[in-house]
Amino acid sequence: MQDTGTKLGQGSAQLRCIGCGALHQSADRDFRCPDCGDLFEVIYPQWKSSQRGSALDPIVLGNVWRQRRASHALADRSGVWRFRELLPNLGDLESVISLSEGNTPVYELAKCARIARMERLFAKHQGMNPTGSFKDTGMTVAATLARLEGFRWVACASTGNTSASMAAYAARGGMRSVVLIPEGQVSWGKLSQALDYGAVTCQLKTDFDGCMRVLNEVVQRMPVCLLNSVNPYRLEGQKTAAIELLEQFNWEAPDHIIVPGGNLGNSSALGKACLEMRELGLISRLPKISIIQAEGANPLVRAMRENGGKKLSPMRADTMATAIRIGNPASWKKAVRVLEATGGTVEQVSEIEIALAKAEIGADGIGCEPASAVTLAGLKKLVKQGFVKPNELVVLILTGHMLKDPDFTIKFHRGDLFPDKKDEAAILKAQQRAPIVLDANAETVLKVLEQA
Ligand code: F0G
Repeated sequence: MQDTGTKLGQGSAQLRCIGCGALHQSADRDFRCPDCGDLFEVIYPQWKSSQRGSALDPIVLGNVWRQRRASHALADRSGVWRFRELLPNLGDLESVISLSEGNTPVYELAKCARIARMERLFAKHQGMNPTGSFKDTGMTVAATLARLEGFRWVACASTGNTSASMAAYAARGGMRSVVLIPEGQVSWGKLSQALDYGAVTCQLKTDFDGCMRVLNEVVQRMPVCLLNSVNPYRLEGQKTAAIELLEQFNWEAPDHIIVPGGNLGNSSALGKACLEMRELGLISRLPKISIIQAEGANPLVRAMRENGGKKLSPMRADTMATAIRIGNPASWKKAVRVLEATGGTVEQVSEIEIALAKAEIGADGIGCEPASAVTLAGLKKLVKQGFVKPNELVVLILTGHMLKDPDFTIKFHRGDLFPDKKDEAAILKAQQRAPIVLDANAETVLKVLEQA
């Protein structure tokens, strides 16, 4: 592989450094500001001049987006590119790499609402994306732009979902992909996806943060497009989940959106979308965006509590919710800005609280992976604290599909998740339903049913 010096930048959109504010047309391969080393965000200077009745008028936008739902064109069938007025302008939609991502459902969670002492509760299930996680919404944009810029290789470090998604979009787009994952810390479901979609899959003897460190060096030394969420075009795609959510709520913002926090790209993207929608007049008030972390992987919670989010100290992370086992989140400054701009908060939840919440969501007929369940576990705490009122409208963002990590679910129901915490884990019993092994006759089955 030769270094062609390829950079990534896109037409009318500009890159602005979140640290020093410098404006750039394109980014170096590490997506860091050459002046101060901070991350970029995508901005659209031409929006400022938009007028009523123009293509960015909220009524015009709402109508155009609705009409596209009846279209069969590839870009219109995508729940990301359907909102392309708020994305980098591709010019030619033929170049889109899409798996019909987005278009994810909002479910009402009746039992979970009662458990959390809410009148009503909703979940937007981003796990219903083509590769089973919210990453697809960002990947369609970042992979499309990578290919347009001439990259033949894409790369990421991952706790599993990014790698699964990136490998799929690279395969669809005729690019090669390389993934760095922490050995022994990625669920089989996610690892098997990367393998099947043809990624060069490297299991490194380190954690996610270590993989990220190695990857940063790799991208400096070969012409490969970095598709982690430091790539600001990923976040532009992930932004559309909030736009679609607001459309599903008829442009009435919910009071709260609750999202898991790992590398903190997703919370940043959802917040950016809400601020932009308000700027464009699509919504008149902002939902509070709150971020929930696992107790063992809580660098943002610590930073907010210890110094109001001015400084984040990296930590060694540990949680069974492997998707969010991250101690040095890249996008923490963006996430702090979202918390401040929307009035949201942070909370942390224990391993047992995560496991319980996941089973409770399951009992509503909705599967999700452990990292997604932190949202319900966190909500319960926020209601107890009075931060969320029972009559408020809350939407949980479920980020990954239950089948990503069936091992966790099986262990939960067999009572094997917490071998060293039997007493504490006793509260899980009511939700546990281990499979029952029986002789093959009707009598034994009927007997079991009587007891049920
Ligand atoms: N939920 C799931 C299911 C995830 O896979 C991730 C992140 C998150 C939540 C956290 O989102 O990082 O934007 O704050 N997974 C990444 C990965 C890190 O490599 O798949 P975040």
